[in-house]
Amino acid sequence: MPRFVLVKERVMPGHIIVGGQWGDEGKGKVIDYLAEHVSFVARYAGGSNAGHTVINDYGEFKFHLIPSGIFWPQVTCIIGNGVVVDAETLQAEANELRSKGVDVTRLQVSERAHVIMPYHTALDRLEEKARGGDAIGTTGRGVGPAYADKTARSGIRVGDLLDPDRLLPRLKEALRNKNAIFTKVYDAPPFELEEVLGQCRQWAEILRPFVAPVEETLRQALRDGKNVLVEGAQGSLLDVDHGTYPYVTSSNPTVGGALVGLGIGPRSIKSVTGVYKAYTTRVGAGPLPTELDNEVGEAIRERAWEYGATTGRARRCGWYDAVAARYSVNVNELTGAILTRLDVLDGFHPVKICTHYLLDGQTTDQFPSSPFTLARCEPVYEELPGWDAPTAGLTRWEELPWEAQRYVKRIEELLGCSINFISTGPHRQETIEIQSFID
Ligand code: GDP
Ligand code: IMO
Ligand code: MG
Repeated sequence: MPRFVLVKERVMPGHIIVGGQWGDEGKGKVIDYLAEHVSFVARYAGGSNAGHTVINDYGEFKFHLIPSGIFWPQVTCIIGNGVVVDAETLQAEANELRSKGVDVTRLQVSERAHVIMPYHTALDRLEEKARGGDAIGTTGRGVGPAYADKTARSGIRVGDLLDPDRLLPRLKEALRNKNAIFTKVYDAPPFELEEVLGQCRQWAEILRPFVAPVEETLRQALRDGKNVLVEGAQGSLLDVDHGTYPYVTSSNPTVGGALVGLGIGPRSIKSVTGVYKAYTTRVGAGPLPTELDNEVGEAIRERAWEYGATTGRARRCGWYDAVAARYSVNVNELTGAILTRLDVLDGFHPVKICTHYLLDGQTTDQFPSSPFTLARCEPVYEELPGWDAPTAGLTRWEELPWEAQRYVKRIEELLGCSINFISTGPHRQETIEIQSFID
């Protein structure tokens, strides 16, 4: 009987980029830089809770949905099945790009992606309000309720929007259920079927030109050896399974989410790279062991302008947490890392890295599964000499002051994987390439 060979040599042109911390690590900047060498850039999770900043010769952009590789003319950008889509956000981003002369016909959206409905956004806000002091600090974009509906099998998918016969019964059922919650639990007004249907019709027309069989396109591209860059949103420590639950987002930003969220297998993946800031930030609630609730944290925030790209909220700032970072290396089985925002630490004396936690009088290098245990962990710091010579904008390793080199090398040692790129500024070109992983 003829048999298929189970493991055969094959090209591995897939490269996954994930956030290594609590989001906002600079993934947008990194993807815009790396996309020069690829044919596809694909988003696999999250929705318009993401805010990815790209600064290049076209200007400054904050993408919530459109992949950050859109500026390279050879790149097809994909919004995969794992993303939850807000059609109006997508339209606004596409319009902005068009106005700057960027071709958006290279954008494709999966029929399987779920749609953020108006009742998701409303529920997100009501649920947060009801949580009171235990609020998660969500971005209020309806992302959590949209994923809840997806898992409960009551979501509306992009494909449903395009097919009115399929949409109507699903929407009726969804509204029956949601309106009971609005009126009976929250004492809030219900949503009218006709009004939501009207919005759906508009969204269908926004999305229709972009809808394509993206899963098959990607699988074929990978078989053909075309380079695919997979753009993570959020960060590993916000992962609904592996993060600081319940202070997390509602999807899987970690590597497994990339495969599920695009419908591809692990054998085409050559590299998994974590993006890390040279320090730590978090926006929203939840434990942050190295948080600097003092003038140093304030100085980092103001120097780095650490305010959310999606909500404008002040980000909480702290020293680099190597315990948390090492945990995300393991969860994603990273093959490499990228360190961003090194320039922000210019002029800080000393610079500190948290190497261990102190928990109940004992040191540990384990990242606990419970956020309540994590909240009791105190950081144990190693102090390294800071540097005065500016690193901002540098593009060569040799140009970095030795103290900055030592800082990067120490982080690399603690991570246990190599740092392949360093970012020294928000602009595409402000990048030090140590070793590229894309052929
Ligand atoms: P993302 O969500 O991971 O894409 O990150 P955000 O865009 O939300 O936040 C990162 C911020 O850092 C943005 O304002 C970027 O423009 C900026 N940025 C990225 N890399 C660097 C860098 O190396 N240095 C400085 N100073 N800013 C950077
Ligand atoms: P990017 O892709 C930083 C955080 C929110 C909140 C929690 C849950 O720009 O790195 P949600 O709206 O997802 O239900 O909120 O997750 N959060 C992010 N924090 N960067 C992000 O995305 C985030 N997306 C969600 O602040 O704490
Ligand atoms: Mg962001």
